[in-house]
Amino acid sequence: MDTFDSTSLKKIGIFSSGGDAPGMNAAIRSAVRTGIFRGKEVYGFFQGYTGLLNNHYERLELRSVANILQRGGTILKSGRCPEFLKPEARKKAADNIRAAGIDALICIGGDGSFQAAHLLWTEHKIPVVGIPGTIDNDVNGTDVTVGFDTAVNTALDAIDRIRDTAASHDRLFIIEVMGRDSGFIAAHVGLAGGAEEVFIPETLTQLDQAIDHIRRGIQRGKTSSILIAAEGQKPGRAYDLAEAIRKKAGFEAKVCILGHVQRGGAPSANDRILASRMGAAAIDVLIQGQCDVMIGVQSNKYVAVDMKLCTQKKAFTDMDMLHLTKVLAQ
Ligand code: F6P
Repeated sequence: MDTFDSTSLKKIGIFSSGGDAPGMNAAIRSAVRTGIFRGKEVYGFFQGYTGLLNNHYERLELRSVANILQRGGTILKSGRCPEFLKPEARKKAADNIRAAGIDALICIGGDGSFQAAHLLWTEHKIPVVGIPGTIDNDVNGTDVTVGFDTAVNTALDAIDRIRDTAASHDRLFIIEVMGRDSGFIAAHVGLAGGAEEVFIPETLTQLDQAIDHIRRGIQRGKTSSILIAAEGQKPGRAYDLAEAIRKKAGFEAKVCILGHVQRGGAPSANDRILASRMGAAAIDVLIQGQCDVMIGVQSNKYVAVDMKLCTQKKAFTDMDMLHLTKVLAQ
């Protein structure tokens, strides 16, 4: 957390970075309209950090963000920019930002995006405020990220549909959800969707335990089961799990990979509200002269969190939740 002289703050740049998340547009709309309301000019950079390197930006007016509140994706586009890991790229971006007369930036993204934002401040004194936007909910310093609620509900809708067909055919399904490093989506849809077992990247996959659990369920009269697997480091790993279960126990499992479906769609009410409040808070924080922070929600309060803390991933650690999922799936 740091401060800068915001008395002459006039032009604020905003961009979305990393994997897109439903609600990013709501955050952009809120920052643009709050900024203009507070007498500032707001400029949108396209394709995340790539836009800072390529000078690809345009001024956003009140009407530029009309009719986007309910739209998934991000009107500013998004992406990952490995080039930004190089110090010379960050120097080029900082030079571009200064040449454009931009006084401060708002970055909507995840922990990787915040690493770069933190470096823009520490190396080049470009003031940046972050808004956590990722479906994975794995950003330190906030209880929830923009996009998580929508992604969980999107996945849950699909899981409910699969349960219908699983029940009709007495089948075992393995449903793979997103989460390269994080089990938040898997754990939440597991409990909400009545899954028998949830596999998350934060813990070792206990296949024998899962098979025992399925067997006991069958003995009690269960005819269909749903297992949830976070994709982890290998999208498509649900096929490997199905094969391992077939080899070990002889159960045939159908696989359904939800994939990028979870990243799109209209943001939920919760995500629109979260993003709108975070977008406004980001502007307020800059006007107050604070930077190198991320807007987070902690115990229902909107707070400015030291950006350095938010450059690390938050792991899913609520093992009680996973235990409850198993108990309730008896
Ligand atoms: O945005 C986070 C995330 O959805 C992860 O859960 C997933 O592993 C990754 O992005 C996939 O992103 P992409 O296909 O865009 O590289």
